[in-house]
Amino acid sequence: MDLARMLDNCHRDQWSVGDLDWSRKPRSMPREDEIAIVQLFTDMSGIERLAGALFREQERRVEDPTLKAIFASFVKDEVRHSHAAQMLADFYDVHHYKEYRQSPSLTAFAPHFVDAIQYLSDDVANAYIITGELILDIALLRSINDFVQDEMSSAAMRLINRDESRHIAIDYYMAEYYGSEEYEQKVAAQEQRMSPARIARGTRAFVNVLYHGSPFIRDVFLDPMALVDPRGVRLREAFKRAQILGRKEVNARRPFAKFQRFLQDGVNHPITGPILGNLFGRLAGPGKDMLKRMYDDEELARARRMTYDELAQEALAQKEAN
Ligand SMILES: [Fe+2]
Ligand SMILES: [Fe+2]
Repeated sequence: MDLARMLDNCHRDQWSVGDLDWSRKPRSMPREDEIAIVQLFTDMSGIERLAGALFREQERRVEDPTLKAIFASFVKDEVRHSHAAQMLADFYDVHHYKEYRQSPSLTAFAPHFVDAIQYLSDDVANAYIITGELILDIALLRSINDFVQDEMSSAAMRLINRDESRHIAIDYYMAEYYGSEEYEQKVAAQEQRMSPARIARGTRAFVNVLYHGSPFIRDVFLDPMALVDPRGVRLREAFKRAQILGRKEVNARRPFAKFQRFLQDGVNHPITGPILGNLFGRLAGPGKDMLKRMYDDEELARARRMTYDELAQEALAQKEAN
């Protein structure tokens, strides 16, 4: 990847919520739809902030100055998306049927997540963000937009999606590095020098994330998707991409990648699946169904022949295709 060119694009494609024309009127819609839509955008505003927190951490960790500047621009993007989502929530809150708040599971999850980020190793932080962005981009945002069916939402989503395309490209670029032998060598040496106190704090933070992660994923991703994508086509597509990416390297090097594969294999195993599937699904976050193997051998073999950049481009093309 040409990082300098990517950074140029990051600067060139900046926008502000004020660029959008907020003077139009929302289409009229039934009461339940208005309530659902305002709630969706209220939660989206919180999720975008979490994405911003992850990029802020990535910015802090990378050494390459160009990459640092790219991540700094992503932090700005996510804050802007959060603002845009909040403005969309207000825009569609025509009748003030209720007072809207972020889902409690999101409020409970967010501080643990932000705390845990500082202890997570880079590859784990990247795995969270890439899965989150695949689900957000390929599944949630597009489905919300189709459900809303309104010019204001479409105009905002077009700009948000343009930013997210850059994010996905860099997420895959980083995934390649974090799956590499070079990274494994570097991080293994660092991990040996970690103090027991730090390991204990990190473990506690991570347990909290796992504990609060499952209800958060259900309330903020899975339940809304059941409303806006009832057949679940886009959601499965997004999880399938995340699964394939997790298996891109023939052998998982990092403990987290091994752990994820272990949970997936457990769910898909004819004996452990029925017994431990629910527990494993909960530990992984999204629940048992999303851990079921969604790709076949041929699809995996194909992905292993492709470069990470080609995989990113394909994920981006999928956004337009659905
Ligand atoms: Fe975003
Ligand atoms: Fe993003």
